[in-house]
Amino acid sequence: MNTEHLFPHNTNDIARAGYLLRAGELVAVPTETVYGLAADASNAAAVAKIFAAKGRPADHPLIVHLAGLDQLTRWACEIPDWLPPVLTQLWPGPLTVILKKQPHVSDVITGGLPTVGLRVPNHPVLRDLLQQFDLAVAAPSANPYQQLSPTRAEHVLAGLRGKIAAVLDGGPCTLGTESTILRIDHDHAEVLRQGPLSAATLQELLPVPVHTPVRHQHAVSGNKKVHYRPRAHVQLLPSEALQQQWPQRHATTGKRVGALVYSAPLDGDTTAVLRVPPTHHDYRQRLYAALFELDQRGLDEIWVELPPQEPEWADIHDRLQRAAGSADERESATDQH
Ligand code: TXA
Ligand code: MG
Repeated sequence: MNTEHLFPHNTNDIARAGYLLRAGELVAVPTETVYGLAADASNAAAVAKIFAAKGRPADHPLIVHLAGLDQLTRWACEIPDWLPPVLTQLWPGPLTVILKKQPHVSDVITGGLPTVGLRVPNHPVLRDLLQQFDLAVAAPSANPYQQLSPTRAEHVLAGLRGKIAAVLDGGPCTLGTESTILRIDHDHAEVLRQGPLSAATLQELLPVPVHTPVRHQHAVSGNKKVHYRPRAHVQLLPSEALQQQWPQRHATTGKRVGALVYSAPLDGDTTAVLRVPPTHHDYRQRLYAALFELDQRGLDEIWVELPPQEPEWADIHDRLQRAAGSADERESATDQH
């Protein structure tokens, strides 16, 4: 399949993306978090193609992206009274809510669960597309299963070219990591995946307790220990350890080692070093693109300088730990999928 590269400033290209989605094809679309691999959510056969293109197990549920809050009741039921006013403040934005699904929502989307994940993305191109074509789209991140989520159209093409009909190029994603996932109950809510909206911010807005379990059993593929992973082995090191071990990296490992740093000064040949901004917002925006770039350099290992331990960095630590997944988990994950 020839994957078309579409550009939103061209109205013909937006129309083409809408046409392809309506025709049951897969189109990668920009969101403010990461690129999504979209299919018409009302067409189960189209949604099924997502799993084949990504190599994703069929029991991993997908998020349905809506044009606006007014679409919520079309997809979810038993919505607590307190939720819509809260969502008025948070949508469009990087928050996915898990709610009881309406009966018509396909098991292909929910992986057979009685619940559905819903979000109104905050990207003008995608919102225009959904509104103009009266669409809701099921969309996981637009990467092969367990690899890095794409924050640029080129990343999408590197992983999925030939397997999808088109990518709509909305430029680099402004946030850069996946949405916060919040399971909603009448009397409490639970953060299933950390993301740009912190549990503390959510707690300020919600009238019920917001829990953040360390481990949970809910079906979130982002909850796997190995995920969001580049090809090279990722190792997390505190700044001092990284600086100390850097000069002997080849002698001690016998491998091609690169580094992702935000503050540590590293001596010697630093062609395999990528420096990312030290503020949380800018670091998050660059993280996946930086890992992607280092991966392109054919390294065996990427040493990542451990970011600050402050609470606002929780989502970054979460992603980095999954990117680092241990060797054993890596083997078994590759064997299975
Ligand atoms: O920012 C994002 O959330 C991006 C963009 C494209 O919107 N999407 C994304 O999708 O990260 P994906 O499929 O890579 O991750 C969605 C997560 C999965 O881990 C899935 O298990 C979880 O959402 N999820 C979806 N529906 C669920 C449900 N009913 N119950 C529990 N978890 C659910
Ligand atoms: Mg994903």
